[in-house]
Amino acid sequence: MRVNGRFHRSLWPAPQRNALFVIDQRALPHQLRIERLADVAAVHEAIRDMWVRGAPLIGATAAYGLALQAIHDAGDEALQAACRLLASARPTAVNLAWALQRMWAQLQPLPLHLRAAAAWREADAMADEDVATNQAIGRHGLALLAELSRRRQRRIHLLTHCNAGWLATVDWGTALAPVYQAQAAGIDLHVWVDETRPRNQGASLTAWELAQQGVPHTLIADNAGGHLMQRGQVDIVIVGCDRVSANGDVCNKIGTYLKALAAHDNGVPFYAAMPLSTFDATLQDGLAQIPIEERSARELTHITGRDAQGAAVEVQLAPDGTAVSNPAFDVTPARLVTGLITERGIVAAQADALRCLQEPRP
Ligand code: MRU
Repeated sequence: MRVNGRFHRSLWPAPQRNALFVIDQRALPHQLRIERLADVAAVHEAIRDMWVRGAPLIGATAAYGLALQAIHDAGDEALQAACRLLASARPTAVNLAWALQRMWAQLQPLPLHLRAAAAWREADAMADEDVATNQAIGRHGLALLAELSRRRQRRIHLLTHCNAGWLATVDWGTALAPVYQAQAAGIDLHVWVDETRPRNQGASLTAWELAQQGVPHTLIADNAGGHLMQRGQVDIVIVGCDRVSANGDVCNKIGTYLKALAAHDNGVPFYAAMPLSTFDATLQDGLAQIPIEERSARELTHITGRDAQGAAVEVQLAPDGTAVSNPAFDVTPARLVTGLITERGIVAAQADALRCLQEPRP
């Protein structure tokens, strides 16, 4: 995707294969800060503290983290310790564990001296596959948007929550890939961007990346979506996801469930864009079984921004000592999900349909 007119991915390896470059997303939208991560501890910190975030991107970042480990010590013990450390960075998005399992499965059968090169090759392959996956999701989602546009015969309005754009993946994004493809296809489209408290990924990241691509959009308070739907101002909701269970329950950024309820009540189609790396067939019941990350109280009691001089400042919102609960994700029951947009097509959020998706292609 473009930043100031130049093409960018959200992460890329150093040409010498001794470091990983990432965009420190905490500095956006005010500054495009690039960080160099040179070891597994730095990669762990970048995922845990959300320099990088979004389910597919943390998976790709962790894969490179393991490749960094492999150039220092590629023994079983060292690699497994690195996997444990990286997996502990964030609990909800299953892409993290998925990426580490795939890396380990590639490396474990190899002799030690071949592991580092193989690790970089596999991490590169995973990054490239993520881009291709998101492009495919974009194509399937585009068909939905094209049909809506044909039926409405006017500009269509899509609502999204959090950031499931290119910043949350290696490129293109999941929920926003159909938006970018619709833009390229000349479909007249406008995006309602939920601010996404408490970390404001919508206000800071989605609004920034849509502006960079020139997609018409409007930032709204998290609580505004239901009101807009009641007034017929939302034609479709598309969100990303962090984990989808075998029964089709969709876990995504906190607040997604409320959007799905409002969409259901107002007859607005509600889709989640789901790369297969976000599907967790081992969990039968997402509501009961998906682990929900609890983040720090400070994300709610304080807010960070820029002052008039451009300096980063943090200010306090809540009274000293206020008790805080900060679950970072929620689970939308499958019954509220119109469909899942995957790289293999759009499927119902139902066990049978999801089982078929996993079958190898003929
Ligand atoms: O806490 P975050 O910013 O990592 O949460 C991100 C989301 O919830 C995204 O919607 C999800 O990871 C899908 S990203 C393509």
